Amino acid sequence: MKVLITGASGVLGSAVREAFKSTPHQVLALSNTRTGDGLVPLDLANTQEVDKVLTEFNPNWVIHCAAERRPDVAEKNPEGVQKLNVDVSGHLASLAKSLKYTLVYVSTDYVFDGTSPPYTPSARTNPLQLYGRTKRDGEQAVLSVNGAKAIVLRVPVLYGPAPKNSDSAVNILLDVVQDQSGKQYKMDHYATRYPTNVVDIANFLVRLSDFKQSTAIPPILHYSAAEPFTKYEICLVFAKILNLPHGHIVPDSEAPKGDSATTRPRDCQLYTKETEDLGVEGGLGLTLFEEWWSEYLKK
Ligand SMILES: NC(=O)c1ccc[n+]([C@@H]2O[C@H](COP(=O)([O-])OP(=O)(O)OC[C@H]3O[C@@H](n4cnc5c(N)ncnc54)[C@H](OP(=O)(O)O)[C@@H]3O)[C@@H](O)[C@H]2O)c1
Repeated sequence: MKVLITGASGVLGSAVREAFKSTPHQVLALSNTRTGDGLVPLDLANTQEVDKVLTEFNPNWVIHCAAERRPDVAEKNPEGVQKLNVDVSGHLASLAKSLKYTLVYVSTDYVFDGTSPPYTPSARTNPLQLYGRTKRDGEQAVLSVNGAKAIVLRVPVLYGPAPKNSDSAVNILLDVVQDQSGKQYKMDHYATRYPTNVVDIANFLVRLSDFKQSTAIPPILHYSAAEPFTKYEICLVFAKILNLPHGHIVPDSEAPKGDSATTRPRDCQLYTKETEDLGVEGGLGLTLFEEWWSEYLKK
């Protein structure tokens, strides 16, 4: 089988690429600005080049991880984000139809407004910020191509192996805990998150690509870890593992007001029963948060 991964230089895409290394599948790993280590740079906004590369490689699966996923950056470049998160995704779905591959479009729990968790795959979407709206519109663009085999995989906030802590909204909290300079940090203790390990998602995608009853895969799948944490609670876990004081981190339990209300939905928990019940070997295969970090930080 041939597997093409977009965003293979990103946090999730690089884990997906790593996971497929242990399979006999042939992999094409696309990036945009980052190069080296076998990455093939391709600006997905360049439709002609995309058509050429995909037609030549002729994949069986395309795992589309590339996106602008930073809500604050998205707000500053609405047209660019619309192009990448929505138009490019729709185009990859059109190619899925003509080239007959299965497209996995990675989406987010931020398609929901966080007021009535847990959310089933068919629950009404109501994104609060531009990022969530473009990801929701990307879902619709992908699912509206008749005759294309497309799977929307919604995931929550991600963590895992990453070159820089700033690559992940969870990993970056390590820097906050380790900053013992005397600087004080106000930390969100209002929104509940379900940090999910990219290695778990990647391994699940490998097993999903091998799944024999692929016709049973519904158009929208939810994948999420089950352990709830606020950002402040994540800091406490890191402080415990690193044996560091955390008095410089002050919990902020206030409901956000004004502009920040849209950046912190209260609780977007993804209901994963349908995914568990699919019968993919090994189920979700979830890692426990504190256990993983304890091992990872020992290295
Ligand atoms: N991170 C999270 O917490 C989170 C939560 C929920 C859902 N998601 C979703 O999960 C997916 C993966 O997120 P991530 O955290 O792995 O993202 P990431 O680390 O920010 O990586 C983004 C990737 O997109 C590529 N890219 C950006 N612009 C491109 C363009 N014009 N053409 C081609 N590639 C382009 C980047 O390539 P270069 O770096 O080489 O330029 C990079 O590989 C996204 O769909 C995101 O919406 C993420």
